[in-house]
Amino acid sequence: MPIRKISMPNLPARKLRSKSKPNSKAELLNSEHFRFLSDALRSLNEGFQNLPECKNDAPGDDRLAKVLTATAERLRDNYPYFHPLYAGQMLKPPHPVAQLAYALAMTINPNNHALDGGRATSAMEKEAVAQLAAMFGWKKFLGHLCSGGTMANLEALWVDGQSVPGKTIVASSQSHYTHERISKVLQLPFETIPSDARGRIDLKLLEKRLKRRGVGTIVVTMGTTATGAVDPLHEILALRKKYNFRIHADAAYGGYFTLVENLEPDTQKAFAALGEADSIAIDPHKHGLQPYGCGCILFKDPGVGRWYKHNSPYTYFTSTDLHLGEISLECSRPGAAAAALWATQKLLPLNKGGEFAQGLTKSSEAARAMYERLTCDARFITPFAPELDIVIFALRAETVSATSLLSRRIFDAAAQRDLHLALADLPVALFQHLPPNMKRDRDIITCLRSALMKPAHFDWVDQIWQRLLASVADVENRKTQISRHGK
Ligand SMILES: Cc1ncc(COP(=O)(O)O)c(C=O)c1O
Repeated sequence: MPIRKISMPNLPARKLRSKSKPNSKAELLNSEHFRFLSDALRSLNEGFQNLPECKNDAPGDDRLAKVLTATAERLRDNYPYFHPLYAGQMLKPPHPVAQLAYALAMTINPNNHALDGGRATSAMEKEAVAQLAAMFGWKKFLGHLCSGGTMANLEALWVDGQSVPGKTIVASSQSHYTHERISKVLQLPFETIPSDARGRIDLKLLEKRLKRRGVGTIVVTMGTTATGAVDPLHEILALRKKYNFRIHADAAYGGYFTLVENLEPDTQKAFAALGEADSIAIDPHKHGLQPYGCGCILFKDPGVGRWYKHNSPYTYFTSTDLHLGEISLECSRPGAAAAALWATQKLLPLNKGGEFAQGLTKSSEAARAMYERLTCDARFITPFAPELDIVIFALRAETVSATSLLSRRIFDAAAQRDLHLALADLPVALFQHLPPNMKRDRDIITCLRSALMKPAHFDWVDQIWQRLLASVADVENRKTQISRHGK
């Protein structure tokens, strides 16, 4: 096969308006990275040198370059997810090694459904997934990559439904919204248990429900999407001895914090118990530095593979070794995702105290540093300290409605200053210490939410804080102008 020439223009770096940039590691790829990719591509192509030349009928290079530039222009219409001033939703830039390994593997475009479609990347997936399982202390397990947290949770609940048919799935009211929808798709009964004042599943209400019998599975959320609260898995294990149910840990967002050693004692205990769950969903495309399309489902008992058993008249011919499609619900899957994860874990092994774990520790410290500033400023209210790396806050006002409106205004004002936050509608009950004179005229309070998922956020807390204060001042000035001019 002839060496394929791939021209790689430098990506246009988005101009950031910030003047002072403390230690920002720009997360967009640079020309040096493209040199590495070009070297790696050469090495990959050498593996196919024995093949006769074949014509590449891709469009001409200048047409391609024009379209690529047009694509870049369209892509500018994005928030700068790679930059520390993006401190909103649960979005974390993939590590450069993951981006490059993905791009490299994509030139082959392997399909990890079967060894016929992705021999090398299937082997890489098996190794990378074994490293994820080892993080929870599992040597024997069944698992594979999938498209994301929703698919990983779907596979877990599907196996639960097969294992304990007719029984109810329960999850906290703060669990990810897809659990209810997945249960509907699978036609499994589903119930929610209200969360407590920390946003974790309420254990008393859970036990009350368990006493009524019929619960087959408890979904334990190891880091909720809204607030990063961690359900007390260690205490739920004690209930399992009494009431016997399956446990699925939705660790899509929080799972990697198993490697972190500076969490609150209760949170630490919950993570230490993860190996006792029957299944674990963990998303490398959230905290594992991967491009989207990389979730993972792990089962403690490899015997659940029996539920996946099927015949495929079209595949599984090339080898008697395990084809990943034999143990997954999806058929075609990107082998490039496996190559990216494998490369990332080779560079940054999943060890306690290692470089990868230190990155997570910095994120949680960033969240604590931000929380400290918020609690020292009487203008803000906060429900509770961040358990992982998500901070929730709002401005003090006379009513819950007024606070909610201010959250929206600050969200907009901050975006004008290139600080991108998120909003979350949460039960007022999560705010145990609302000022006594604040009128609770709504049950739901709209808050600002900041997922400080990048290690660099730690060095940027000051910048974020200054821009937040400036945005508050913008909103307050505007309020004064409105009351002065009546507009
Ligand atoms: C706890 C939790 N579970 C599941 C999901 C769904 O994951 P995905 O968006 O990868 O499908 C999310 C997404 O944020 C999540 O936070």
